[in-house]
Amino acid sequence: MGGSYALLVEGLKVWYGRRQVLRGISFKLPPSSILAVMGPSGSGKSTLLRAINRLLDYVPDARVEGRVEVFGLDVYRENPYRVRRLVGMVFQTPNPFPHMSIYDNVAVGPRLHGLAKSRDELDRIVEWALKAAMLWDEVKDRLHEPPTKLSGGQQQRLSLARALALKPSILLLDEPTANIDPTNARRLEESIRRVAVEDGVTVVMVTHTPQQALRISDYVAFIYEGKLVEFGRTREVALNPSHKLTAMYFRGEL
Ligand SMILES: Nc1ncnc2c1ncn2[C@@H]1O[C@H](COP(=O)(O)OP(=O)(O)OP(=O)(O)O)[C@@H](O)[C@H]1O
Ligand SMILES: [Mg+2]
Repeated sequence: MGGSYALLVEGLKVWYGRRQVLRGISFKLPPSSILAVMGPSGSGKSTLLRAINRLLDYVPDARVEGRVEVFGLDVYRENPYRVRRLVGMVFQTPNPFPHMSIYDNVAVGPRLHGLAKSRDELDRIVEWALKAAMLWDEVKDRLHEPPTKLSGGQQQRLSLARALALKPSILLLDEPTANIDPTNARRLEESIRRVAVEDGVTVVMVTHTPQQALRISDYVAFIYEGKLVEFGRTREVALNPSHKLTAMYFRGEL
C-alpha cells in the first residue's frame, strides 16, 4: 500500500482505442514534493495526468489498467468526484469561466462542495487562494469584474487560484506556463513552489523546459513513447542521467 506516499502509480497502462500510449508507468512521490514530467511531444505526459484524476473517464475509447493511489486512496475504486476534489488540475490554456466574476471563478468550487459555512468564510478562502496564486494585489479592487479583462498570465494565475480554492492534496499542471510571458511564468512558478512548501500540496507538473524543471522540481519523470525512462531526484538526474535520452533532453537535443 502507498499510505506514506502522496501519489503512487503502479503498472499504469492506457490505450486510446487499439493504440497503447502508456506502457506500464510506475513511480512513488512523497508528500509536498514537486514532480516535473518531461518528454517529447506525444510521449504521453498529458495522458498520465488525465489518468491520475480520472479525466480519461470522459474519453469514450480510452482504457486504463494498473493502479493509482492518492494518499493511499485507490483512485479507480473511489468516487470520481471525490478524486477530483483531492486532485486539482490546471490546463495549458487559461480557462476562467467568462460569465462569472473573478470572485465567483474562485468561489465556485468551494460553493459546489460546501466548503464554506458563511459568506465570511468563503471570502477568506477566495482571498487565500488568490494570494497563494500571487494574484490578490492585482485583482482585490475588481473582484466583481469579469475575468476576461485580465491578461493571459493573470487568467492563468486565476485558474491556479480556482484549483487551489478546493484545497487539493495534489495539484496537476499541464504546461501551465506554455502560453504566458516570462514574468507571469516566474510568478506562477513561485506560487507553485510556495503551495508545495507552505501548504503541503503535492504537485505534478508537465513542463517542456528542462530549465523550469531545474528551477522548481524536486523530482523528474522522463517519459518517452509511453515508457518511464527515468525517475529520480531532479539534481541527480540532471547531473547524472542514467539514460542517454534523458541526457539528450536536458541538453536540448530532443
Ligand atoms: N483522445 C485521444 N484519442 C486518441 N489518441 C489520443 C487522444 N489523446 C491523445 N492521443 C494520442 O496519445 C499520444 C499521447 O498523447 P499526450 O497528449 O498524452 O502526449 P503529450 O506527451 O502530452 O504531448 P504534448 O507534449 O504534445 O502535449 C499521442 O500520440 C496522441 O496523439
Ligand atoms: Mg500534453
